[in-house]
Amino acid sequence: MDFFRTHYGITDNPCAHDVRVHALPDLNRVAELRRLDAALQRPDGFAAIWGRRRVGKSRLLLEWCASREGLYTVADGSAAPVQRRYLAGEVARRFPGFSSVEYPDWSSLLDRFRAEAVASGWRGPWVVDELPYLIASDRSLPSAL
Ligand SMILES: Nc1ncnc2c1ncn2[C@@H]1O[C@H](COP(=O)(O)OP(=O)(O)OP(=O)(O)O)[C@@H](O)[C@H]1O
Ligand SMILES: [Mg+2]
Repeated sequence: MDFFRTHYGITDNPCAHDVRVHALPDLNRVAELRRLDAALQRPDGFAAIWGRRRVGKSRLLLEWCASREGLYTVADGSAAPVQRRYLAGEVARRFPGFSSVEYPDWSSLLDRFRAEAVASGWRGPWVVDELPYLIASDRSLPSAL
């Protein structure tokens, strides 16, 4: 049981077997960062990270975003329109003016986000920590991602 208490998984292919890694005593997530970088290299790369509470998932993602000029966002239990406004505000740090309009649904926000990223050549990473909260607020979100 100790193994599973101190480990989390990363997959860049939700169909692949999961890879579990040790929680290190201090920040030194070289293997995990490499794995995330590899996912970023692929067109439309997607990676999911899961694991027991407090094993360091958020800290790993914050460190990765900071070192790769990424965008770290975190979902919560707010209603979908509130979370869209928050996300638009975070995206506006990279793309000024992004939050000056109201997005009526996830598709409109994500379509513009994608267009801005393509136009500027920005390839991410974009992190959504606590993604299940976002999906719970709007079940149509996974199909828009
Ligand atoms: N590599 C690390 N070395 C030392 N301390 C770490 C490391 N990673 C995370 N921590 C510390 O462990 C605690 C939990 O980290 P973090 O919040 O990133 O975990 P989490 O997996 O995202 O938790 P949750 O499941 O609650 O979201 C924090 O206090 C963080 O500073
Ligand atoms: Mg966390």
